[in-house]
Amino acid sequence: MRTPIVAGNWKMNKTVEEARSLVLSMSLKLREIGGVEKVLCPPFPALLAVSAMLQGTGIGLGAQNMHWEEKGAYTGEVAPAMVAEFCQFVIIGHSERRAYFGETDEMVNKKVHAALAHGLTPIVCVGETEDEYASNRTGEVVRRQISRGLADADPAKAATLIVAYEPIWAIGTGRASSGENANAVLADHIRPALADLFGEDTSQAIRIQYGGSVTGANADEFFSQPEIDGALVGGASLKKDDFIAIVQAAAK
Ligand code: 13P
Repeated sequence: MRTPIVAGNWKMNKTVEEARSLVLSMSLKLREIGGVEKVLCPPFPALLAVSAMLQGTGIGLGAQNMHWEEKGAYTGEVAPAMVAEFCQFVIIGHSERRAYFGETDEMVNKKVHAALAHGLTPIVCVGETEDEYASNRTGEVVRRQISRGLADADPAKAATLIVAYEPIWAIGTGRASSGENANAVLADHIRPALADLFGEDTSQAIRIQYGGSVTGANADEFFSQPEIDGALVGGASLKKDDFIAIVQAAAK
């Protein structure tokens, strides 16, 4: 049995002050909910403050990105060891990074290697565009993102990886995938691609989240699917009641 995992990707929202008050408003409730792993991913400047607030709560902390190099002249970037000082998780290859910042599968792969080497759990995002979806290319796209993005990852650590399937057309649109459609992509393409890389047993241990317009109102539809092991939540993770409802749905 895979323990479900719900992560809130706050994206470029919340100052340190605002982050503190959001965490304060929901951490007590969140820590009471058992049977599900919870992770918050605030922007970099808020990591220090939020990590202090999450001490002893069992709620994990994640960064939204990082560079793969150890250190050096990379203005504006954050190194793996800097992330690992505060975080247990790191989101890698989010579609917004691929679309707006030119991240390729090869860059995703370097980041995955760096994360695993630093003891971080990567949450690796894959998903097709609206056009690719309309032309029935979802399988081909996510298989390529998995095989290139996770190539040569340490097989001994591969079971700890988390994959987030986020169809781009469903992100921030209020037009979530159906649970059935998302489950089929996981069953037919993502888990088989993981099995090709790491073997059947490891592929069964890897947790795969769904992301894209998940709310407290539709979360049940995803978590009732056998292949979906949690959610990567954007907009609704900024609203305490919604995020708590999603985590509660995953715990059922
Ligand atoms: P929304 O939940 O706002 O659609 O965003 C999903 C997402 O991109 C999480 O990484």
